[in-house]
Amino acid sequence: MTTKQELCQKAVGMLKMAYVPYSHFPVGAALECDDGTVYTGCNIENAGYTPTNCAERTAVFKAVSEGHLKFTRIAIAADTERFTAPCGVCRQVLQEFAPELEVILVNNKGETLELTLKELLPYGFDRSYLD
Ligand code: THU
Repeated sequence: MTTKQELCQKAVGMLKMAYVPYSHFPVGAALECDDGTVYTGCNIENAGYTPTNCAERTAVFKAVSEGHLKFTRIAIAADTERFTAPCGVCRQVLQEFAPELEVILVNNKGETLELTLKELLPYGFDRSYLD
């Protein structure tokens, strides 16, 4: 069992791994799977800009590529006093696997803001529309 504090620490720990030569805006994420496994991620930028991958999606893609498809919580850390919320693309990717996800934002003072993905992505598009 990972505590909220441990999950947040893992997200903060990923800030140093961020590859951000263009924005200089590091983001770290720690994604908890339903079996307790935690996958971490950082943002990875690209000279072409659009290939840039956010920290949240790095964590999701690491997890899914290793067979983990259900998630319970994600902690997202940025070096800002303001809480940094996931972009729209990441909200959509997270919803694919975890519509009930709990989202914990961590600022550079170590303060947290707890939200749900449903709050961040109301009326989201999902696979039920394709049935
Ligand atoms: N970014 C993330 O990694 N996650 C977020 O939640 C917001 C934005 C990254 C993308 C890019 O590398 C940098 O932050 C500036 O947009």
